[in-house]
Amino acid sequence: MLDTAIRNATIITAGDRFTAQIGIRDGRITAIAEDVGPAVEQIDATGLWVMPGGIDAHVHLEQPQGPGIVMADGFESGTRSAAAGGTTTVMPFALQQKGQSLREVVDAYHAAARGKCHVDCSFHIIITDPTPQVLGQELPALVKAGYSSFKVFMTYDDLVLNDAELLEVFDVARREKAMVMVHAEGHDAIRYMTRRLEDAGRTAPYYHAASHPEIAEREATHRALSHAELTDVPITIVHVSGREAMEQIQWAKRRGRKLYAETCPQYIVLTRDHLKGLNMDFEGAKYVCSPPPRDLASQQAIWEGLRDGTFDIFSSDHCPFRFEDPQGKSVEGARTSFRWVPNGIPGVETRLPILFSEGIAKGRISAERFVALTATNPARLFGIYPRKGTIAIGSDADLVLWDPARKVTISQSLLHHDCDYTPYEGLEVTGWPARTILRGRTIMAAGKVTGAPTDGAYVDRGFSEAFDQGAGDQGIDG
Ligand code: URP
Ligand code: ZN
Ligand code: ZN
Ligand code: ZN
Repeated sequence: MLDTAIRNATIITAGDRFTAQIGIRDGRITAIAEDVGPAVEQIDATGLWVMPGGIDAHVHLEQPQGPGIVMADGFESGTRSAAAGGTTTVMPFALQQKGQSLREVVDAYHAAARGKCHVDCSFHIIITDPTPQVLGQELPALVKAGYSSFKVFMTYDDLVLNDAELLEVFDVARREKAMVMVHAEGHDAIRYMTRRLEDAGRTAPYYHAASHPEIAEREATHRALSHAELTDVPITIVHVSGREAMEQIQWAKRRGRKLYAETCPQYIVLTRDHLKGLNMDFEGAKYVCSPPPRDLASQQAIWEGLRDGTFDIFSSDHCPFRFEDPQGKSVEGARTSFRWVPNGIPGVETRLPILFSEGIAKGRISAERFVALTATNPARLFGIYPRKGTIAIGSDADLVLWDPARKVTISQSLLHHDCDYTPYEGLEVTGWPARTILRGRTIMAAGKVTGAPTDGAYVDRGFSEAFDQGAGDQGIDG
C-alpha cells in the first residue's frame, strides 16, 4: 500500500510532459503509472501541473553582515517562505569569517539550522580567508565530506579575494572536484565609482546602481573566466545582471570552456529606476542589491540567455534586510550614502511565481525549461541529482503542484518571510503554487505552511555533474 497517490497529474519534468499518477512511499516516488493502486492519502491534481520541487541554489540566511546589521531571515522563516513559494531545497551560504577554520564554520551553520528547516537544506561555503591551512587541508577534507561547492567574492571589503587567492582556490577546486561560484564585480572599479559619486554629492540609494556599473561586472567576469581557463576548472558565474557579463560567458564557451551561469528574478522584472524610490528618496534602498538591476534592454538580454542556454540556473539570491530597521536597510549611515545600505533583497518565495508568470505564462520559455532552470540543473550542478530535481522512480517525492491559471498580485501581506517588504509589491503574476510536498509530506497547501520546522533535513551532496565526463555536452546546459 502506498502512503500517497497523486491522481490526474499533468507531470512536467525538464524533458517530458505527460498525464499519470504518482505513487509515494517512505518519502520517495515508487510508482509513476496510469494507475498506481491504493494509497492511504489521495491527492487529486486535476487542473494542476506537477513539477519537481524548486531548488534554490543561492540563498542567504542568518549570514553575519558586520557590525550592527542583521539579516531579516534565519533558517526558520527563510525556509518557511521557501516552502510557501514551491521550493523544497535551499542552499544557503556558510560564511567563513577571517580566522575561522572551515570546520568551525559548517558546524556553526549546522547548529543554526538544526530543527529550524521547513525544507531540505545544504550549504555552500564562502571562502574569505584562503590560508595554506584552509586550502591545503580544511577545504579538501570538507569537499570529501559533501560540501562540494563554495563561493568566492571579487568585491566587498570583508570578502574580496585578490587574483592570486582566486587562482589558488580554483586550483583546489580542480583537484578536489568542487564547484566554485563566483561573485564577479571588480572591487577597485566599484571603489573608484563610489568615491566619485560621493564627491559629487550623489549619495541617494539610486547611485548604488551607478557605483556598480556593468563594466565592473564585465571586467570581473572576464577575469574570473580567464583564471578558470588558466587553472582548467569549470566555474559558475552567479547573479549575472545583463548583456555585458553574458557576452564574456559566451566568449569563454566559444573557447570550449565548460562553465555555468546563474541569473535571478531581479534581473527580469526590476530596473535601476526602482532604486529611485518615490522621488530619489530612501525608498530606493529596498532595491539595493549587487549586481544592481540594469535596464529594459538588459532584461531582454537575460531572456535570450534563459532561452539559449547561456544560463543554467535561476536562483533567488534571497538576501533580506528589513527596511524600517536600524539593523537592516536603515542602518546608521545608510541615509548619508548608498555605500552603507546593506546589499541584498528578499525573493525566495517569489522566485518561482515570477519566472512561471514572466516566462511560461508570457510564452518566453517552456514549462520544461522552467523546470530545468529552477530544479533539475541546480540539482545536477550541485551534486544532488537524481535524488532531487526530477520526478522519477527512486527520487525524493519533492513536488510542487501549480495552479497555472491562478492570478495573484504579489504583496507583502501574502508572504511568509520575516522581511518587512517585498521588492515585487504589486507585481501581477499568473500561476501560483497550490501545494508543496517535501519527501511525500505536504508542507504547504492553499497558501498555508502546514509543515513543521523539523521537516527539513540536511542534504549531503556528491560531486557536481560538471566533473562528469562529457557533462558539458549532454549535461545541464543541453
Ligand atoms: O546584493 C546582494 N546580492 N547581496 C547578497 C550577497 C551576494 O553577493 O550574493
Ligand atoms: Zn554575490
Ligand atoms: Zn555550460
Ligand atoms: Zn547572494
